[in-house]
Amino acid sequence: MIRTGEIAEVKKYVREWKRQGLTIGLVPTMGYLHEGHASLIRRAREDNDRVIVSDFVNPIQFGPKEDLAVYPRDFDADCRLCESLGADLVFHPEPEEMYAPNACTHVKVDSLTEHLCGVTRPFHFQGVCTVVTKLFHISEADRAYFGQKDAQQLAVIRRMVRDLNFPIEIIGCPIIREEDGLAKSSRNTYLNAEERKAATILYKALKKGHEMIDAGETDAAKVKDTIRSIIGTEPRATIDYVEIVDRDELQPIETIDRPVLAAVAVYIGKDRLIDNFITGSLNEKE
Ligand code: PAF
Repeated sequence: MIRTGEIAEVKKYVREWKRQGLTIGLVPTMGYLHEGHASLIRRAREDNDRVIVSDFVNPIQFGPKEDLAVYPRDFDADCRLCESLGADLVFHPEPEEMYAPNACTHVKVDSLTEHLCGVTRPFHFQGVCTVVTKLFHISEADRAYFGQKDAQQLAVIRRMVRDLNFPIEIIGCPIIREEDGLAKSSRNTYLNAEERKAATILYKALKKGHEMIDAGETDAAKVKDTIRSIIGTEPRATIDYVEIVDRDELQPIETIDRPVLAAVAVYIGKDRLIDNFITGSLNEKE
């Protein structure tokens, strides 16, 4: 497995693979890989001749008061996992390799970033779209893999790819959960034992909401109220948002009469966790 932090080196391999007519799958990550990332790499391995995993904590998608400095990192463990899953190349650049000191170009998707995490993280998706655009160009990937855990991110990237005619297929992969339902996340490592237990409230609440919709409830307010009241039973939890939006446009809806994304962001202690469910399919072709 190739490990490199240099864009020119990645491009050298990509040129050669393209010359041989091979397909490339890209799994963009911020490292500290877990079973959720592993599921993306496995899927990329199945679908493509070559797999590139990017491992880069992207500074421009963090707000000034967010956790950039303490974001967990373990590059050696990441490489071991990538190698065991058959990845061909891990791209691990320094921030200076990705961003020139006078870089002043950004990619911004409107509308889909107005609600949900866009409210409290106003520059987050611009940072994500900018780095993902760069990774798409560097890797020239045929397909890129993103988890449904970050459902808004997935929808925003799909829209960017469509609007800007990127020659890449975006594949969404289902949320991978712990046995007690907590969605896998690198940020779960921030939680102490009591908080870890308390964090299961997100899944419990969403599960009930999903059951209500499956049973025919179409009033979004009723479903949101139920989700909120279940989360409210956990003293360590503080709700940032509970929303039900149109799955593709990410605009809040009152009546559940089309595929929806139900998403929550909840502080457990001082750590903010997100989780969601969707109705309808995750990928167009499914
Ligand atoms: O989902 C993530 O880990 C990041 O937002 C991504 C897509 C790798 C961009 O930095």
